[in-house]
Amino acid sequence: MVNMSKILIIYHSQGGNNKKMALAVAQGVNSIDGAEAILRPALKATLDDLLSCDGMAIGSPEYFGYMAGAVKDFFDRTYEKARNDKKVFRKPYVVFINAGNDGSGALLSIERICLGYRFKKVFDPIVAKGEITEDVLSRCREMGQTIAAGCASGIY
Ligand SMILES: Cc1cc2nc3c(=O)[nH]c(=O)nc-3n(C[C@H](O)[C@H](O)[C@H](O)COP(=O)(O)O)c2cc1C
Repeated sequence: MVNMSKILIIYHSQGGNNKKMALAVAQGVNSIDGAEAILRPALKATLDDLLSCDGMAIGSPEYFGYMAGAVKDFFDRTYEKARNDKKVFRKPYVVFINAGNDGSGALLSIERICLGYRFKKVFDPIVAKGEITEDVLSRCREMGQTIAAGCASGIY
C-alpha cells in the first residue's frame, strides 16, 4: 500500500468562517492522489499530530490583533518538544486567516512562531475578510492541492 502524505489542518473558528476555509483546504488535499487531510480543531490537535504529519495548514481568526488563543495554545503545548525534532525541521506549512479587518496581526504572529519551529512556508498566505466567498473557497482548495501535491511528490 502506498504511503499517504498526511496534511494536518489545524484551525480555530467560533463563527464558522475559518472552519469553511479549513474544509476547503481539506477538500483540495483529498483531491490529490497519495495525500490525505487530517482536520483538527486547534484545541484538540496534539504533538503527535504535528510530528506525524508531512505538511500543515494553520487557520485562525484574528482576535485582538493576534492569532486566536486556541491556535497559540497548540503552539504553547508543542513548541519545546517539537522544535528540536528532525521531523519538524523545514516541515512545509501554509496559513489561512479570516478576520474582521486585514488580519495582519494574526498572520504576523503565526509566521513569527513558525520561524521559531523552522517550518518552511510553501504557499502565499490567504487572508480573507468576513463572509466567505466562492473565490476564497477556491483559493483554499488550491492551497490544499498545492501543499498536498508537493508533499506527495517530495519536492519540498
Ligand atoms: C474576541 C474577538 C476579538 C476579535 N478581534 C479582532 C481583531 O482584532 N481584528 C479583526 O480583524 N477581527 C477581530 N475579530 C473578528 C474575527 O476575526 C472575525 O469575526 C472572524 O471572521 C471570525 O472567524 P470565525 O467565523 O472562524 O470564528 C474578533 C472577534 C472576536 C470574537
